[in-house]
Amino acid sequence: MADDSFTITDNRTGESVTVPVVDGTISAAALRELDRGLWFYDPAYLSTANCDSKITEIDGNEGILRYRGYPIEQLAEQSSFLEVAYLLIHGELPTEAEAAEWIHHITFHTYVHEDITRFIKGFRYDAHPMGTLVSTIAALSTFYPEAKDIDDPYTRLVQIIRLMAKMPTMAAFTYRNRMGLPYEYPVNHLTYTGNFLRMMWSVADPDYVPDPTLTRALDVLFILHADHEQNCSTTTMRTVGSSRADPYSAVAAATCGLYGPLHGGANEQVIRMLHEIGSFDNVAAYVERAKSGDVLLQGFGHRVYKNYDPRAKIIKETADAVFKVTGLNPLLDIAMKLEEVALSDSYFKDRRLYPNVDFYSGLIYEAMGFPLDMFTVLFAIGRTPGWLAHWVEMLGDPEQKIYRPRQKYTGPDQRDYVPIENR
Ligand code: CMC
Repeated sequence: MADDSFTITDNRTGESVTVPVVDGTISAAALRELDRGLWFYDPAYLSTANCDSKITEIDGNEGILRYRGYPIEQLAEQSSFLEVAYLLIHGELPTEAEAAEWIHHITFHTYVHEDITRFIKGFRYDAHPMGTLVSTIAALSTFYPEAKDIDDPYTRLVQIIRLMAKMPTMAAFTYRNRMGLPYEYPVNHLTYTGNFLRMMWSVADPDYVPDPTLTRALDVLFILHADHEQNCSTTTMRTVGSSRADPYSAVAAATCGLYGPLHGGANEQVIRMLHEIGSFDNVAAYVERAKSGDVLLQGFGHRVYKNYDPRAKIIKETADAVFKVTGLNPLLDIAMKLEEVALSDSYFKDRRLYPNVDFYSGLIYEAMGFPLDMFTVLFAIGRTPGWLAHWVEMLGDPEQKIYRPRQKYTGPDQRDYVPIENR
């Protein structure tokens, strides 16, 4: 029977080390026994697991996603975003009393300091909401200096509640500022997501109540975005958190990671791409451009999923419910044709490129009336509990230290400084 271990021989010395394969990984620490000065060269961490984690499990070949063991399909159908946030951060689903307390605390921390509202007003009228959001989250750290006490579990929990509670408020205010609209302050009688939609859309209507179907759909989208293990933004959260920075600074950094078009910014790019394609008839030509490397098929491909992204499946179903209320997004036909053409093409089949979470989410956001530059802000609201769960897990993990990879230095050898007049 095959032995579940690796034996590696250093041919320079003849020494060997046998390393057990545990959970599909081999320990770099064991390999370092051979040579303490040897580093593993792994650009973009293609083959590196940086931590143990109990939060989210992905099987990229089977298209499986589970939070704390619960299948994403069950959570999307039966749970709520705040319950999922509790699950991610605390490890278990809450009891009724725990859920009530959690929701109460988050509901009663939604207000931001008035100086924060003025801070947001300081941004130009055309500031991208993600730029404003990143800066505002970072600014929160100056309002809560006690957040630096990251070793105290109570202080940690208070900042977690504040971040969860204030993200929708800050997100909505970035939009209102961009539109020149007065801020609509949070209310306590609506749900987390209902309150956010009210802060976005209510104008001169104190009794505004968001549509329940759209509220539920957005709540489901937040659930689908809530965590995705060691993605770029979560790795940023862990990296910044590993220097023992306060959680506002770390979440601001994670939000920067999310902003990029290869990560959370892809949802915005998908809609721009669909507009550029413009009609059903142009789909095949666009796919050819993607195959030639001229453009990326936005919302396609994933580092981990080599199968249909399970979140994309659920989003497609959610879209049906949303479009019944909002009317069909005319780009849907182009998106479905694009999926069909790409999935029957050997370029995409051979590389196992499938639609990811961002492919259909933008169609829903657009149908709901969100401007394109708010899409990644919505992703950030959803991903906040995942970032916080990873931060807590990292702080409690005795194996973790400050994140500090090595490099291969390939620059010049020592050379002497040349005065400017001699260059
Ligand atoms: N369109 C065309 N070709 C692609 C695409 C795409 N969307 N994605 C990957 N490929 C090709 C790529 O050119 C490469 O081909 P080759 O082997 O010939 O060089 C091959 O497929 C493998 O791609 P990769 O870039 O090595 O894969 P990666 O794991 O480094 O990147 C990715 C993953 C998501 C960044 C990439 O697939 C991509 O750029 N997709 C478009 C942007 C996108 O939708 N991002 C959202 C990701 S899911 C949600 C999130 O994380 O926020």
